[in-house]
Amino acid sequence: MMKKLSRIEFVKKLETEGLKFSDLVLASEGDYAADDSDWNYKDVPHLHCVHDLAEAYPALIGDDLICSINMQSILGIWFPVALVNYQYAKHHQVYYTTLFFFALVIESKTEALAPIRTRVTTTYSIGAPKWLFWAIPIIKMLLRKNYDVLMSADIPMRDRRGELRKLGYNFHKKQDDYSFIETVDVSGTNISPPPGKSRIVECDYVAQLGTSSDVLVGDTGLLGFRLVRNGDEVAVFPRTCPHEGASVEKADCLSGAVRCPWHGRRLVAIAKFKWLQDAVITTSTHKVQVKGTALTFEYIGDLTQQHKAA
Ligand code: FES
Ligand SMILES: [Fe+2]
Repeated sequence: MMKKLSRIEFVKKLETEGLKFSDLVLASEGDYAADDSDWNYKDVPHLHCVHDLAEAYPALIGDDLICSINMQSILGIWFPVALVNYQYAKHHQVYYTTLFFFALVIESKTEALAPIRTRVTTTYSIGAPKWLFWAIPIIKMLLRKNYDVLMSADIPMRDRRGELRKLGYNFHKKQDDYSFIETVDVSGTNISPPPGKSRIVECDYVAQLGTSSDVLVGDTGLLGFRLVRNGDEVAVFPRTCPHEGASVEKADCLSGAVRCPWHGRRLVAIAKFKWLQDAVITTSTHKVQVKGTALTFEYIGDLTQQHKAA
């Protein structure tokens, strides 16, 4: 059993201690599902890979609660910031921290406007003793700047998932709501191809690689692939990361693998074959066949049944 306070309830309690609060409300809207934003807020490992100005060191992680010390860069200076973040209700998070004489209670509410259209409203309640209230506009300016920096990295992640959803891809999670702790394991496959769509993609790889040694075939999701030629060897790479859908179309191919930009997973080539040599390569998720100049790519991976549509 856990009692959770809303932002407003918490602010009222702190006001009894003489803190005076002022709110800053910032909102964003985009073509992604409400779950994509919820996932993004709970996604612990992306902080390490995606955000340059914040690094989280969680001490306690549960399904709907995380307590951490974040290293945060403000105006080029790194600060340790203790942060508590919990899910207050579905798609509604509360987090709070303090800095010297100031208290900050924040809520982010995610609202589905359509299946692939979402608004996220973040309200910062900034509390200060009365004699320091003059500093609130400066704090608001810093928070607005910090929000812009964070969103410039987070919104492309949500948009990417929206792009895949528009193609018919589905995302999966283990419970009704995303959980903080679930996001820590980046080894899973949490995306599935459009139901009913052929999972076979064919091409003439010799023609495809005629003018460039790095080409994209098929769609941008699991039903597409990237061909990279190196001398007489051709490697077939994925275009999307099967974990949560990041694009790896532009990731550097180093030592036969690409690194996912969202959580750092290393994705090895699905298949490798010699130029103009027939081959059949089967893995747990793919079957790649080369015959003459024709390449047939088949996605045969599947999700475990306990996953729920997100
Ligand atoms: S999307 Fe998570 S490791 Fe690629
Ligand atoms: Fe983020």
